[in-house]
Amino acid sequence: MADSPWYQDAVIYQIYPQSFQDTNGDGIGDLPGITRRLDYLQYLGVDALWLCPIFESPFTDAGYDVSDYMRIAPRYGTLGDLKRLIREAHRRGIRILLDMVFGHTSDQHRWFRESSRFRRNPCSNRYLWSAAEFGGGKWVWNNEGRHEMYYASWNVSQVDLNYGFRRLAKGNGNSPRDPGVRALYRDCRRIVAYWLGQGVDGFRCDAAGFVGYKACGNDGRLPRLFWRSIRKVADKFGDRVLMSEEWDRPVEAVNEWGFHLSFSLLAGNLKGLLSFGKPGKGRFRGDPLAFDRAFASQSSGVRRKDHGLVLFTSNHDSGRLADCSGGCDALTALGFLLVLTQNAVPKIYMGDELGMRYDSAAPSHEGSGARAGNRTPMPWTSGRNAGFSTAAAPKLYLPVTKGYQRRNVGIQLGHPGSLLEEVRGMIACRRRHPSLRTRAEKITLHARKNDPVYAYGRRCDDDTTVVAVNLSGRPARAVVSLRGLTGGRAALVRQLLPRCREGLEVRHASAAELGRFPLSLGPYSYQVLEVASL
Ligand code: BGC
Repeated sequence: MADSPWYQDAVIYQIYPQSFQDTNGDGIGDLPGITRRLDYLQYLGVDALWLCPIFESPFTDAGYDVSDYMRIAPRYGTLGDLKRLIREAHRRGIRILLDMVFGHTSDQHRWFRESSRFRRNPCSNRYLWSAAEFGGGKWVWNNEGRHEMYYASWNVSQVDLNYGFRRLAKGNGNSPRDPGVRALYRDCRRIVAYWLGQGVDGFRCDAAGFVGYKACGNDGRLPRLFWRSIRKVADKFGDRVLMSEEWDRPVEAVNEWGFHLSFSLLAGNLKGLLSFGKPGKGRFRGDPLAFDRAFASQSSGVRRKDHGLVLFTSNHDSGRLADCSGGCDALTALGFLLVLTQNAVPKIYMGDELGMRYDSAAPSHEGSGARAGNRTPMPWTSGRNAGFSTAAAPKLYLPVTKGYQRRNVGIQLGHPGSLLEEVRGMIACRRRHPSLRTRAEKITLHARKNDPVYAYGRRCDDDTTVVAVNLSGRPARAVVSLRGLTGGRAALVRQLLPRCREGLEVRHASAAELGRFPLSLGPYSYQVLEVASL
């Protein structure tokens, strides 16, 4: 689609920088490491990288506790390293998105130190201060200077910023018109403009709905005001993207707040479908119809054609895709296909393309708690530290996951039948077929409760495809009508994927045959068909 903005057709790849590739031997991944692995990412076929926060931080929450938004944490490298990464990525047609954490700052941020002072100063109203608790949530006493409580919805060291919440006392900045609050908006705009000026292509925006809103009386008005002002800045730079992390109100985020994209929590439901089919589970008891309807109702709520929802394989916070499938690669591949062919922007979390599993042995690190299991180093080779770092094992950010010798990039790359190559084939197919991309129409062909076959048609101009999966470990069949896809005409039906397995190759189907088109799918298998009307 010539007129669609780049991010609508993109496949986004999320990198947890600490665990991706270390180049200076300190055991922590860094920016030059990402640059070094760009060829791999280009080979995989992704279009944009989202890097979890790389700003200065005391790392009580792995960098989601920013202490200086204008500086890169030295452990990741320098501004020069980021610019080199951007340059090299752009040379390969890959964009770079940073993670902007504006819901809260670290308690080590200069703004908070000033805000905590007893004496009034320009930062006094920058956070949520109150003499008494209200609205539930976490209020924390500050006994040193201010003798008031501050609000920290996530963690005591991550202090919520004040966007003008109306339930605060008047003197504490209970309106976006308060001069102290206005200064915060201005500073955030400057931060965004600074990084866009360095060549960054956009941001994933953490906790975009401002987590403190429930307690402090924010009805959606403040995220709207704030993010729209940020969007204006982004628009001045041309084709940049703002992608919101807002689980409760993703559609509102794209319709009202000015985000181009927003993550859909329904990705969880999609992944959940896999777990009903995992080996040893017995009869399939999932509900593809419920997912299909819920997603249709969510995506049809998006009003602007150039805005959309994001479906993802997993992320640094929640279990991996391969955990849903019990480690069965064929089933994990189905999860990938579903994420890559819905009318949404797909986002892949690093290592999912290898079938990496959650590592329950990973010790909590930098405030991760149980999330550490999702953050272990990317396994590149079967060699020492999985090729992630040359540091001594105890110095690694997190230990490498056991069994990496059997599951790593080196083993899977170029190996037909590996999950990595399968995912790569799917991405390439999506790229070749406009109908498989985000904005194309989706027509559900077969979705039923307790039925492992899920099939849908996708259509864009004269490109028409059918995606069908069997989520169970037993052969399954369904009969679908493809007549609506061809306007009642006969068609040539050609199998696009999978390429290396037996199945339908090319077939001439009359209009009558299209009306009752049999889909016969082996255990955990799929077909992507091209339907060309005659
Ligand atoms: C991030 C988490 C982080 C939290 C607080 C989430 O949305 O994904 O990793 O701990 O925000 O910033």
